[in-house]
Amino acid sequence: MRRRTAAMFFCAVALVGAAAAASARPAERPAPAQPGERPAAAQPAPGFAPIRIETTHVALVFTVGADGSLYQSWLGPRLADTAEYAAGPAPRHEAFIGAGLSDLAEPAITVTHADGNPSLDLRYVRHEVTGNETVIYLKDSVYPFTVALHFKTFADQDVTETWTEIRHSEKKVVTIEEVASSVLHFDGPGYHLTEFHGGYASEMQMEESPLENGVRILDSKLGTRPDMYQAPFFMLSLDGPAREENGPVLAGTLAWTGNFRFLFDVDERHSLRVVSGINPYRSPVTLEPGRAFTTPPFIFTYTTNGKGQASRNLHHWAARYGIMDGDQPRLTPLNNWEATHTGFDEQKLVGLFDGAVRLGLDLFLLDDGWFGDKYPRDNDKAGLGDWMENPRKLPDGLGYLVREADKKGLRFGIWLEPEMVNPASELYHAHPDWILRLPNRPEQYQRNQLVLDLCNPAVQEYVYHVVHDLLQRDTGIAYIKWDCNRPMTDAWSPFLGEHQGSLYIDYTHGFYNVLARLRKEYPHLPMMLCAGGGGRTDYGALRYFTEFWPSDNTDALERVFIQWGYSCFFPAFSICAHVTSMGRESLKFRTDVAMMDKLGYDIQVDRLTPEELTFSANAVRTYRRLSPLIGWGDLYRLVSPYEEHRAALMYVDSTRTHAVVFAYTLQTRHQEFFYRVPLRGLDPSGRYRVKEINLAPGTHSVNPDDDKVFSGDFLMKAGLQLTPGRINPATSWVYDITTEND
Ligand code: DGJ
Repeated sequence: MRRRTAAMFFCAVALVGAAAAASARPAERPAPAQPGERPAAAQPAPGFAPIRIETTHVALVFTVGADGSLYQSWLGPRLADTAEYAAGPAPRHEAFIGAGLSDLAEPAITVTHADGNPSLDLRYVRHEVTGNETVIYLKDSVYPFTVALHFKTFADQDVTETWTEIRHSEKKVVTIEEVASSVLHFDGPGYHLTEFHGGYASEMQMEESPLENGVRILDSKLGTRPDMYQAPFFMLSLDGPAREENGPVLAGTLAWTGNFRFLFDVDERHSLRVVSGINPYRSPVTLEPGRAFTTPPFIFTYTTNGKGQASRNLHHWAARYGIMDGDQPRLTPLNNWEATHTGFDEQKLVGLFDGAVRLGLDLFLLDDGWFGDKYPRDNDKAGLGDWMENPRKLPDGLGYLVREADKKGLRFGIWLEPEMVNPASELYHAHPDWILRLPNRPEQYQRNQLVLDLCNPAVQEYVYHVVHDLLQRDTGIAYIKWDCNRPMTDAWSPFLGEHQGSLYIDYTHGFYNVLARLRKEYPHLPMMLCAGGGGRTDYGALRYFTEFWPSDNTDALERVFIQWGYSCFFPAFSICAHVTSMGRESLKFRTDVAMMDKLGYDIQVDRLTPEELTFSANAVRTYRRLSPLIGWGDLYRLVSPYEEHRAALMYVDSTRTHAVVFAYTLQTRHQEFFYRVPLRGLDPSGRYRVKEINLAPGTHSVNPDDDKVFSGDFLMKAGLQLTPGRINPATSWVYDITTEND
């Protein structure tokens, strides 16, 4: 389909070329009223029908002005009468602003033409609609430089993907200093921005603040582990602080595993321009004539029903389109990282398999530490790059472990970090030219390691073979955890030589090249995306991965906040949550927190008491029963941990006959009192039995509503006391809500 679009694109360019040649002077843009002011509103081009990019509830509308420029004239709920899109205020917001002319706010695109001219004057050429994709073609009024704005809509989910494609036929290379995937304009009474920031072991902390006049930037310059400090997501409320279930909210993210930038520019008229795309930091693109440069897609949903609906839209979109095999059940693993770190051998691992069997899990996931011969991986100082078994730890090889796991009815998965190298490795000595590092400066280590140069096709080939050869040799390997434990600093590619400008972008494309090649051969192998915790969590990579590791912080109290943040953008089936021994919370609390997303274990099972083992095995059975509801149901966040010393959320299935509620107290105060919580998403006329499940060994429910039947109307108006009894910190409840037929 892309190819067809490209052919049409050239046809459009040819037409405009002819038009431009015929009228030597392009139409005038609207002039500012006063010198230094922003340009006045444009008159719409007579007879031009607005271009409507529509989903079931939302419309993004563009108009062409009499000056030939493209304007965004609407972004909001769909109007009943489409003729009225043209009845609003005169179009004022140029859709995709080229730098260097009269608009001096943040541009969408900055280029330097082959002759050195640093300006771009984009005019509408034509547009095409093919299925759910609309492409609007723009061209410079003088230069043979064209921009295609792509919009792909997912009507049922109210989600739109938008990206930009650039071509030119100038005499020499053109330098693109920056180009956005998307520019959106807003005129609202009170912009509030929710961002998701943090650091290692404190990922996805939510923070909301008003957007005042001026520029605000959310970005990353970290390259390989781009989301460690700032995650590539935002929610924008247009009428004051965002609310959970009502109010206009736009949720946006860039599908890009690299440096991103979201720029929010509020001007003197209180209009907001949101420019989203690859971070231009040290990333000029030199584009040869006839070649195309395509940006990654910006993905957004808009709703008038608050943050909750925005999240549900993205979850449903992700399950169908955004995440690899998003409609398939996931495996429930026992991972050994927290339990052993690198201190294990063959016998110890085989012993751990029994724990996985006793818990009733699907998979044993062998983490870091199994490789390296001359430089054994006994800690994080050595071995990265040498992907052969450590013969002292695993004398019979991985194949033996795969077979032993199989005998016990378990699948076997493996940890890899194939983009990295320790100086203490055979790879480092064999291929010094494969490593990103600055000339004439000392190497800078993080976690004692360096980044391989994935800009180099030979390195892509090597990384591909690390995975491919392993899977070919030990064909029983059924799962991969792909880790990446350092950001890029001091980035310089020996392969790129004097053309370092494209390093960050080429690296990400190199990463995708490897994954795309692997996915052709292993289309359904489950893979976990990990980057020293949640340093890489984006919908660019999740086209190739089935799930991701959100954080190395598995203290369940902290996890309530971390998983809450991820729930804004990702469905529960993709958010890995393992029961570990970290923190001081009870096993029940730790289990209930892990169960609200994709459950797994990383614990020494033989240290559990018989009661704890029984509780855990029951929890795994319960999770198996509930995982379609948790993973793919409608999420309603009921009480935010950011607003109270407790948190509650629920999942409801598509028929509204089954729901599950998770409730947690956090760091509560003495004699704190909590109100009943109205549930959401149920059928008001339905009758539901409320049953507390996952009870700790030897306890029974103290909730007076336990095992009683209520109407959906009552549950959604009067609510339930989700946190009954004496309130203690770090206590949890799970309620199964099922339809009562009698
Ligand atoms: C960082 C990951 O987040 C952990 O889960 C673990 O795999 C370690 N790396 C291993 O080095």
